[in-house]
Amino acid sequence: MDALTQSETWRRLAAQRARMAGFDLRTALADANRCARFTRALHAGEAELLLDFSKNLIDEATFDLLLKLAEERGLRARIDAMFAGERINTTEDRAAFHVGLRDLSVRPLLVDGSDVRAGVEAVRARFLDFAESVRGGQWAGYRGQTITDVVNVGIGGSDLGPQMVVEALRPYHDGPRLHFVSNVDGAHLASTVRNLDAARTLFIVASKTFTTIETMTNARAARRWLVDALGVDAAVARHFVAVSTNARAVTDFGIASTHMFGFWDWVGGRYSLWSAIGLPIAMAVGRARFLELLAGAHALDEHFRTAAFADNLPVILALLGVWYVNFWDAQSHSIAPYNQHLHRLVAHIQQLDMESNGKRVRLDGTPVDHATAPVVWGEPGTNGQHAFFQRLHQGPTFVPVDFLLSAQSHYDDGQHKLLAANFLAQSAALARGRRLDEAASSHREFPGNRPSNTLLVKRLDAFTLGMLIALYEHKVFVQGVIWDINSFDQWGVELGKEMATALAPALDGAAAATDASSAALIEAWRRMRS
Ligand code: F6P
Repeated sequence: MDALTQSETWRRLAAQRARMAGFDLRTALADANRCARFTRALHAGEAELLLDFSKNLIDEATFDLLLKLAEERGLRARIDAMFAGERINTTEDRAAFHVGLRDLSVRPLLVDGSDVRAGVEAVRARFLDFAESVRGGQWAGYRGQTITDVVNVGIGGSDLGPQMVVEALRPYHDGPRLHFVSNVDGAHLASTVRNLDAARTLFIVASKTFTTIETMTNARAARRWLVDALGVDAAVARHFVAVSTNARAVTDFGIASTHMFGFWDWVGGRYSLWSAIGLPIAMAVGRARFLELLAGAHALDEHFRTAAFADNLPVILALLGVWYVNFWDAQSHSIAPYNQHLHRLVAHIQQLDMESNGKRVRLDGTPVDHATAPVVWGEPGTNGQHAFFQRLHQGPTFVPVDFLLSAQSHYDDGQHKLLAANFLAQSAALARGRRLDEAASSHREFPGNRPSNTLLVKRLDAFTLGMLIALYEHKVFVQGVIWDINSFDQWGVELGKEMATALAPALDGAAAATDASSAALIEAWRRMRS
């Protein structure tokens, strides 16, 4: 395969970008056919996911070239390799087979040639049974009281995914209250447990490795709080369970293997909410809805695996992202979910995208000569409109935006119409702008021609949410394939972790600081504490 930027298609895309300099979205959108040409929908049972990408800086020739790029980069074979459980995470020499966790069919789930279906189903049955026993009150605390509050102690993928889903599915929440503690700042745990009754609280210690310093520190502090409150060590057995791949460390912590739910090294942290890491989700909404979440993701997986690239929603989103990152110098990408319950969605996708593709070397270790993951950020609409949308409309450069809305609301329909009108208005305003001759002054001029995608679903339920999350997972994967980087490792988080461990004794003067700036800061920190 040619180096990406030396390929003929890349050069033609660069030439296409130059030709698009005079492209005007307002004019393009006057064409009644454009929307039909650049809209695709996925129907799965009752659910529908519609992507209108007509408000992008593309024409047919651009779209065709981007699709050609995907073909040439061997995307089809890489998709097949992922679904075949091959070791596509080359730097860690393992598969990235989260798709297997949500395949509820009976076909074999092959990882490295072995069928893992029985193991996946056995753990799923165990953790869903456990969730039901807590929800139903059969599982009681040490003093025999039912559990009213569940605290998930985890960080990164062991926190963001389940937390985001629990928030998103609030209208369906019929289990115990859920809380999430992640930050090593003691304020997080202290403020969470302040009003909890230890006798009715269950902790889930969620950590793939069971070595993550924040999680282990918070888990030990939580155990102290519980034992202090209930006055006996033996209470830990009824109030702590673990989700991890590290059985030995779980036992060493004092949680029996019968109270541990395992998963596998082929499930990456940011792709793990489909595994036992999803236990808080099952606690909140129950077995049936958890299975619907998996089924929705699986429907999107099947679409991704089988649809032609020209109709393939994650492929289209990924290629548009490549177009802006590599040919328009867009350094960031914003996501605006017009749904308050999706207020943690962007944080989840931020980790998914930036931890997966924030890389600078190719699979073979040589440096890339182009940009990779954009900075992913955003807030729910309409809040973002009153904060940073000024920059989106009138800043000197554009930021591509994904707008998301569900057509149906669980709440007041009148208010929902207002929300929908705002959702429509923002993408139209970004695209059309307001010309100087239509504005009172240049301060009130909007350049327009600013691209966005519009994602519309029927209703934000578990199935649809599963589709949406899988959509972004696969978008990120496709971009990694185009850029020839490994989307499934995260070595970039290691150095800071190691240095924190090395600097901790320096705070007490027991070791030298790493550099003069750190030494001076430690001195100032100590002075301010004395
Ligand atoms: O921040 C790095 C990271 O390894 C993430 O990828 C992961 O989701 C998070 O830390 C938590 O890791 P663990 O589940 O092993 O505690």
